[in-house]
Amino acid sequence: MPDTWNSPDKFNREASQWDDNPRRSALALAVAQAIIASTRPTKTMRALEFGCGTGLVTLEIAPLVGSVSAIDTSREMLAVLQEKIRNSRLTNIETKCIDLLSPLQNAAKEESFDLIYSSMTLHHIADTAEFLNHLSNLLAPGGIIAIADLDKEDGLFHDDPLEKVHYGFDREELDALFHAAGLQAVTFETAYLFEKENRAGKKTAYPVFLVTAKKAKS
Ligand SMILES: C[S@@+](CC[C@H](N)C(=O)[O-])C[C@H]1O[C@@H](n2cnc3c(N)ncnc32)[C@H](O)[C@@H]1O
Repeated sequence: MPDTWNSPDKFNREASQWDDNPRRSALALAVAQAIIASTRPTKTMRALEFGCGTGLVTLEIAPLVGSVSAIDTSREMLAVLQEKIRNSRLTNIETKCIDLLSPLQNAAKEESFDLIYSSMTLHHIADTAEFLNHLSNLLAPGGIIAIADLDKEDGLFHDDPLEKVHYGFDREELDALFHAAGLQAVTFETAYLFEKENRAGKKTAYPVFLVTAKKAKS
């Protein structure tokens, strides 16, 4: 798969206006609420969000857990989150500009997490199976993973036809990849219906699933 999948340029350009889109904030809030309801975060948990962006989800989860590593490949998205953290009372979020699959950048490889969560980022990562294996290795025994993303879509969700993305995910195929990565008790729910005018100019409701799973205790 080409490296262009992980190019941070687009998100660096969009970072300062990212939160101006109220539909994004509504989606992130709905996903955060679904993650909270299904994973029941506690103050003893070490959490990781990959693709945290400007922190729309992490700022909802952080008050409920012990600590959050908020990871993204876009420095500018993280800069927006860092400003929000400075303006808040939160002291338990650490931001890291790394790609978890890059051996050279992978500062998190020695750590393990009780909760890993994400929203709308998995479709930006080329090799889903390899990435899920890696996330599974980062989960502590008994840890929980919760990932929200698009159900299989018509390929018109993203405005740029050249952007390298998965056109959402088939739930059965993703379920198989979760199990292959050693994750158990895999469940799906629909967390949100994201309505937007797609690239063809047609108003469309795109379902967003939340998949949760567990790593065995031993
Ligand atoms: C669609 S945005 C979602 C941001 C945020 N989760 C939200 O809901 O607003 C996808 C984010 O994933 C980040 N990203 C893309 N590929 C990544 C990778 N390989 N590792 C970490 N972050 C990545 C992008 O920089 C971007 O901030």
